[in-house]
Amino acid sequence: MAITKVMRDWLEERLEFKESIDGFLFRKVPRGVGWWYTLGSATMVTFILLSLTGVFLMINYSPSPDHAYESVQYITNEVPFGSLIRSIHFWSASAMVVFIGLHTIRVFFMAAYKYPRELTWIIGALLFLMVMGAGFTGYLLPWDQKAYWATNVGTSIAGQMPLVGPIIQKILIGGKTIGALTLTRFFTFHVAVIPPLIILLIGIHIILVVKLGISAPPEK
Ligand code: HEM
Repeated sequence: MAITKVMRDWLEERLEFKESIDGFLFRKVPRGVGWWYTLGSATMVTFILLSLTGVFLMINYSPSPDHAYESVQYITNEVPFGSLIRSIHFWSASAMVVFIGLHTIRVFFMAAYKYPRELTWIIGALLFLMVMGAGFTGYLLPWDQKAYWATNVGTSIAGQMPLVGPIIQKILIGGKTIGALTLTRFFTFHVAVIPPLIILLIGIHIILVVKLGISAPPEK
C-alpha cells in the first residue's frame, strides 16, 4: 500500500497527471443521462477484450492455407484456456457490433450529432466501417467451409458495385479465387491495419467527447 503511494507520488511530482485524470473522470455531465449513455463505453470495453484475446489467439494462429484450420483446432482443443479465449473473442465481436449499432441509434435519435458534434459523428461513422471490416476479415481466418463461403459471398457482393466493383473484389481476394493471398491479406488487415486505425479513431472520438461534453438528453 505504502509502496504504491510512494510510486504514485513520485510519478505525480514529475508528470502532474492527477489534474488531467480528475478532469477526465470527474467532468460534469448533463442532468438526466442514463443507461443509453453507457453504450459508447460498452463498445470500448468489447474492443479492449477483443484486443487482449486477439493477441493470445495470434500467438498460436498460422495464416497459411495449409495450417490455418489446424492451428484454430489446436487453439480450441489443445491450448490451455484456448477454447475460452476463442469464445470470448467471438462473443465480444458479436457484442461490439450490437453495442456500436445501439450507440449509433441512440446518438441518432437523440440528435446528438448536431452542432458542435458533427466531427464526433463523422469519426464514429469511420469507426463503424472499421468495426464491420474487422468482423468481415476475421470471419475468414478459421479457414473452414463457413468462412470460405461467407467470404465468397461478401467479396462477390463487393464485386457487384458499378465500375469499381471488380477492381475492389480483385484487391480483396488477391486474384481470381479465394486462396493463400486472400488469407494473408485478410489476416494483415484484421491484425495490423484495422485495429491500429480503430485505436487512433477511438482516441480522437473520446478527445472530442471530453472536449465538447456530452449532449443533454432531449426535452420531453
Ligand atoms: C468503436 C466505436 C465507438 C466507441 C468506442 C464510442 C465511444 C463513445 C463514448 C464513450 C461516448 C460518450 C457518450 C456515450 O457513450 O454515449 C460517445 C459519444 C458519441 N459518439 Fe461514439 N463511439 C463509437 C462509435 C460511434 C459511432 C459509430 C457513431 C456514429 C456514427 C458515434 C457517434 C457519437 C456521437 C455523435 C457522440 C456524442 C454524443 C453526445 O454528446 O451525446 N460513435 N462515443
